[in-house]
This record gives sequence, structure tokens and C-alpha cells, in this order.
Amino acid sequence: MSSDDWKRQAAEQALSYVEDGMKLGLGTGSTAAKFVDLLSEKVKGGLKVVCVPTSEATRAQAAALGIPLATLDEHPALDLTVDGADEMDEEMRLIKGGGGALLREKIVAVASDRVVIIADSSKRVDVLGRFPLPIEVVPFGLASTQRLIFQMATDAGCDGEIKLRLGASGAPFVTDNGNHILDCSFGAIDDPEALDDALKLVPGVVETGLFLGIADVGIVAGPMGVEVLSAVDADFDEENS
Ligand code: A5P
Repeated sequence: MSSDDWKRQAAEQALSYVEDGMKLGLGTGSTAAKFVDLLSEKVKGGLKVVCVPTSEATRAQAAALGIPLATLDEHPALDLTVDGADEMDEEMRLIKGGGGALLREKIVAVASDRVVIIADSSKRVDVLGRFPLPIEVVPFGLASTQRLIFQMATDAGCDGEIKLRLGASGAPFVTDNGNHILDCSFGAIDDPEALDDALKLVPGVVETGLFLGIADVGIVAGPMGVEVLSAVDADFDEENS
């Protein structure tokens, strides 16, 4: 089996959390895309859901597959969001934003009663930070923002190269919100909460890719099978067992 198969297995398992009539948040990335594919089959079979996508890419995929879509303004409170992750630690803290959609992903996730993260087992880590942390920043004052991020991160015990993400053309990558992404190779992030707090003090920072206390369930598929992990305070473990 390949990582693609595992991503699909995790996505399949996430379908068990979907109920008729739900308002769903749809994540972004290759794993979330598999969930969208599978969900569309259920919709074709009669499942009634309305979905809020976390990126223009997911919106286009879901629309092409005939999934009913709405905006978060139309449905400000969602029942469930299913999304992928770049890293997940033992406390189900995440790094997200590899696909550049972290801001909408976080807005949609915190608007949701339940957040289910689907991933192949390569995403599990003991300590966050092997994957460079994406930070969404406004274009104005970029160099100054980057300098301040470096200083704040260093004070929080993290340092490493900070790179402006480039798109395929070589120009700076632009998010769906018109911003840029700084990818921060900090290495081990021993205190993600302290780092997140520090980074948010930088005025040019729109949002970080640290998703802390947001995921309720992690579905991780790999060579050992599919594992379902619950956040310590998640209260719906039994409902789905
Ligand atoms: C998108 O911005 C990200 O947060 C994705 O959820 C993350 O990069 C995981 O993507 P894959 O499922 O493609 O690994």
C-alpha cells in the first residue's frame, strides 16, 4: 500500500462522522481531497449536506463534483470539519498550511463543533517542527515582519531559516486571502503554545500554522492499519466507537 492508499483509508473512516443534514467544513490538501471525492459519492447517493470549503481549490473540486456549497457567512456555525495536516503530535497539536490554506482552515475549524483530522502515518511526530512552520503574513512591510518573527521566535526558544514561499512561476506565493507565506525551519518546537503566543504579537502576522487545541479526532492510516485518536477532552469518542 502507498501513502495515497492510507490517505484514502483515513478519508473513508472520516465519513462515519458525517450525518444527514450536517453543515460541513471541507479541508484542503491531497488527503482532504480524497474525503471530498468520497463525500461526493455519498451526496450522489442521497446524503444531504451543505459544505463550506477552506480554499478556492477545494471549492472548485467540490463544485465540480456536485457537492452543495455555502459560505461561512451563510452558515457561521458548522457541525464538523474534516481536514488534513502536515504534522500531528501526541497531544493532537498540528502544523498546517503546507498547501497555503491555513487561515481559512483555522477559521472554518474553530467555527465547527468537531474537527476530524485525517492523515497517513508519516504525519505523526513526537515533537512538532520537522515540517517548516507556515506563517501567513500581509505583503506590506514583509522584511520588517520577517525580522520581527525571527526575534520573537528566538526569544521563544526557536530559531532557524525563514523563507518566503514562492509559487510555480518563482514569484511570491499568494494565498486565497492575498497574503504571503513565510516557511520557518525552526526544528523542534518544544513549547508550541509559547511560540504561537509570541508570533501573534507581530503586527504583520495574520495567522500561524500551529493548530493548538483545535483537533478533536485524528484518523491516522498506515502500515499498521487505521488508528482513531481522540483529544483528551473530546466528548464524542463513544458515539463513534
Ligand atoms: C493546507 O494548507 C494544509 O493545511 C493541508 O491540510 C496539509 O498541508 C496537508 O496536506 P496533504 O494532505 O496534502 O498532506
